[in-house]
Amino acid sequence: MTVHTRQFDPADTEAVVALWEVCGLTRPWNDPRADIALKLRVQPEFFRVAVGGSALAGARANDEIVGSVMAGYDGHRGWAYYLATAPAHEGRGIATALMREVEALLLDLGCPKVQLMVRSENEQTLGFYDRLGYESSDVRVLGRRLIAD
Ligand SMILES: CC(C)(COP(=O)(O)OP(=O)(O)OC[C@H]1O[C@@H](n2cnc3c(N)ncnc32)[C@H](O)[C@@H]1OP(=O)(O)O)[C@@H](O)C(=O)NCCC(=O)NCCS
Repeated sequence: MTVHTRQFDPADTEAVVALWEVCGLTRPWNDPRADIALKLRVQPEFFRVAVGGSALAGARANDEIVGSVMAGYDGHRGWAYYLATAPAHEGRGIATALMREVEALLLDLGCPKVQLMVRSENEQTLGFYDRLGYESSDVRVLGRRLIAD
């Protein structure tokens, strides 16, 4: 199977939600479909998927979503969320390719730095980001919800 990346298409929604669920990225308090709907309104070009296709590819119906990343630029920093690779396709460089693609898009906009948050219960992922050149920062992340779920 060959893998390529492209912008998320609304028809990918259920496959991407299933990917996030199998990768443990969904949380009861975050509706993934609502997150997708919001992203489609702001910099949708930064929502990328990795797609595996057969030799007959071309027909999108045969696409299999094997990776995702949702990113954006806030004018100061770039941020990446929902990085995921389907378990059966891990270790093939898919997440690296998605992150490098996001970095290139951010750089095109003049974004000087990209950041991301790793949940404390997912710290085994830090080794992956270390390989990509991401450094840990000693910060606490605070948040206040503006719109109730
Ligand atoms: C973390 C994740 C995105 C990595 O995806 P992937 O497509 O397998 O990553 P890559 O193949 O691009 O790996 C790049 C390198 O990191 C290494 N790597 C991958 N996961 C690693 C880990 N947990 N610890 C250390 N190194 C890791 C790979 O071995 C590879 O090394 P190499 O360049 O020497 O071959 C994937 O495991 C995943 O979806 N995990 C569940 C969801 C998740 O935790 N997402 C991150 C949220 S912050």
